[in-house]
Amino acid sequence: MGNVHVFDHPLIQHKISLIRDKTTGSKEFRELVEEVAMLMAFEVTRDFPLQEVIVETPVAAAKCKVLAGKKVALVPILRAGLGMVDGVLKLIPAAKVGHVGLYRDPETLKPVEYYCKLPTDVNERDLIVIDPMLATGGSATAAIQFLKQRGVKNIKLMCLIAAPEGIAAVHAVHPEVEIFAGNVDEKLNDHGYIVPGLGDAGDRLFGTK
Ligand code: PRP
Ligand code: URA
Repeated sequence: MGNVHVFDHPLIQHKISLIRDKTTGSKEFRELVEEVAMLMAFEVTRDFPLQEVIVETPVAAAKCKVLAGKKVALVPILRAGLGMVDGVLKLIPAAKVGHVGLYRDPETLKPVEYYCKLPTDVNERDLIVIDPMLATGGSATAAIQFLKQRGVKNIKLMCLIAAPEGIAAVHAVHPEVEIFAGNVDEKLNDHGYIVPGLGDAGDRLFGTK
């Protein structure tokens, strides 16, 4: 699978296993999703450019590196993507946050848009699209399409669990988009749920089922 980064870090693996557990309640689920998102953000930002600066330490002048002022926006796909935003913001606090509202029609499994609010300078920013689940890939593909229509060029996609079908669907339309997935699971079931997955991410985050 080209352009896909899967995480083998023990902390990420451990926490995703707890997230998957059906006995994990909403409070713990939310906390774990936020923590894993923060840990994943560490890797997603690995290619951020640096610039040299001179810092006066109490002892001497040190040649150091700081981030070169990259402009970033996070775009969670509502609603489940919201669960990952605060974790990523802990590492990239200056990022702006846009929202794309999509839900999957339970019959057709096609994404339906109901909300879109993006930073006004979104086309000048590098974007990280955030959603815990990449199942058929319909939602992520549509969200990325909206962003491209608004002139965004550099887009990464970050999810906790991806199905091979979802990765293939996104890359069929947007092959240049790097996908960062905590785990890649086996398959989708007949209802478009990831197997073994973690169930319905939005419902588990917000306690709606
Ligand atoms: C879930 C999930 C993704 C989408 C993935 O959202 O958070 O957005 O399904 O499925 P796909 O890859 O097949 O499009 P859902 O539509 O259940 O909405 P919710 O976040 O409001 O619960
Ligand atoms: N959306 C979810 O929340 N879970 C899945 O397994 C698939 C889509």
